[in-house]
Amino acid sequence: MKTQAAICWGVGQNWSVEEIELDPPREDEVLVRVVASGLCHSDEHILTGDSPFPTPMIGGHEATGIVEEVGSGVRSLMPGDHVVMAFVPSCGRCVPCSTGHQNLCDLGALITHGRQADGTSRHHARGEDLNLMCLVGAFADHTVVGEASCIRIDPSYPMEKAALAGCGAVTGWGSAIHAGAVRPGDRVAVVGCGGIGSAAIQGARLAGAAEIIAIDPVAFKREKAVGFGATATFASMADAFLPVRDLTRGLMCNQVIMAMGVGQGDVMNEALGLTAKMGRVVVTNIHPARERHVTMNLSALTSLEKQVVGSLFGSANPRSDIPKLLDLDARGLFDLSGLITRTYPLAEVNQGYQDLRDGVNVRGLLVTG
Ligand SMILES: NC(=O)c1ccc[n+]([C@@H]2O[C@H](COP(=O)([O-])OP(=O)(O)OC[C@H]3O[C@@H](n4cnc5c(N)ncnc54)[C@H](O)[C@@H]3O)[C@@H](O)[C@H]2O)c1
Ligand SMILES: [Zn+2]
Ligand SMILES: [Zn+2]
Repeated sequence: MKTQAAICWGVGQNWSVEEIELDPPREDEVLVRVVASGLCHSDEHILTGDSPFPTPMIGGHEATGIVEEVGSGVRSLMPGDHVVMAFVPSCGRCVPCSTGHQNLCDLGALITHGRQADGTSRHHARGEDLNLMCLVGAFADHTVVGEASCIRIDPSYPMEKAALAGCGAVTGWGSAIHAGAVRPGDRVAVVGCGGIGSAAIQGARLAGAAEIIAIDPVAFKREKAVGFGATATFASMADAFLPVRDLTRGLMCNQVIMAMGVGQGDVMNEALGLTAKMGRVVVTNIHPARERHVTMNLSALTSLEKQVVGSLFGSANPRSDIPKLLDLDARGLFDLSGLITRTYPLAEVNQGYQDLRDGVNVRGLLVTG
């Protein structure tokens, strides 16, 4: 069939929205009509080359859609099912999946190639096979994805905002509650208050944090952060240091969650400076793949027993945490709608990313279906 998709043909180029040829789903794949797809910063890393994803690549990795056709071996999905497409597939059978770490499913290794396990592609344009961002490729009217990338959700749930559960909302929330293990009374700093950081602030609030310090150079993000639960805001980690020392009576933050648009190795020492004894820096933001240098006072790391941990997909289990987050939203405990500043049709995906660069959205959302 023919459909429309936004393709990055090479580093430094914008998204090209064009007609593509889409093959039918193979054995363990499904054809999905995309409803909505979030504009996460991770797709921007394809354009800048910070993440060396292979082009040509269809963007979009946090999305919802309706299953239209299933492959012969698909057992868990039927045509008509509403699904969240998650940016890490979960097979349920590998060691990480079967030990409660679906975010690290072995199928995740395929993400770097953007192809299904057999190396083939269902998506084609200009005579070339296309790769899929995180095996999803949801900047499109239709896509074909593996069964393992789809989480079925209750059809009563609003499909547009549910798209954010495929990456950003679960990643931020989980960075606080899973990776950061925020406990009631904790003091938390969130550095970078876009889609991920704003969800981390909400996660910290839900976990009972006493202080939530939001740090972002953009005034609009700091205003929104207060609405999500921040108790104090600062434009930079340097500005925050002395006031945080006073606010926390010198104890500093139990968790410092890094959620800047592009991670920077040379700010890690400032993050450690905001961190309490035995506190944890959660590195959720993606650093340029080629970066090798990080500033850190490792003497203080040892003597104050600080920790630096990475977190993928909020260290969450997509099959249980995506429905859980949607339920929290339905109960009014998590605010997914508040994360969405503006919606765009597929044809305006480049405007959406310009708005991300300009800092005017918490999250932009493509609404295709
Ligand atoms: N680990 C994961 O599983 C995972 C998943 C999704 C996204 N990410 C990454 O998380 C990061 C954030 O993504 P996003 O979609 O929220 O991006 P975003 O562009 O929506 O938000 C980034 C925010 O960081 C702020 N910022 C920029 N420089 C800063 C600085 N020096 N100090 C403080 N704040 C600063 C910006 O103003 C912006 O508000 C990206 O690197 C993205 O690739 C990681
Ligand atoms: Zn697995
Ligand atoms: Zn993402």
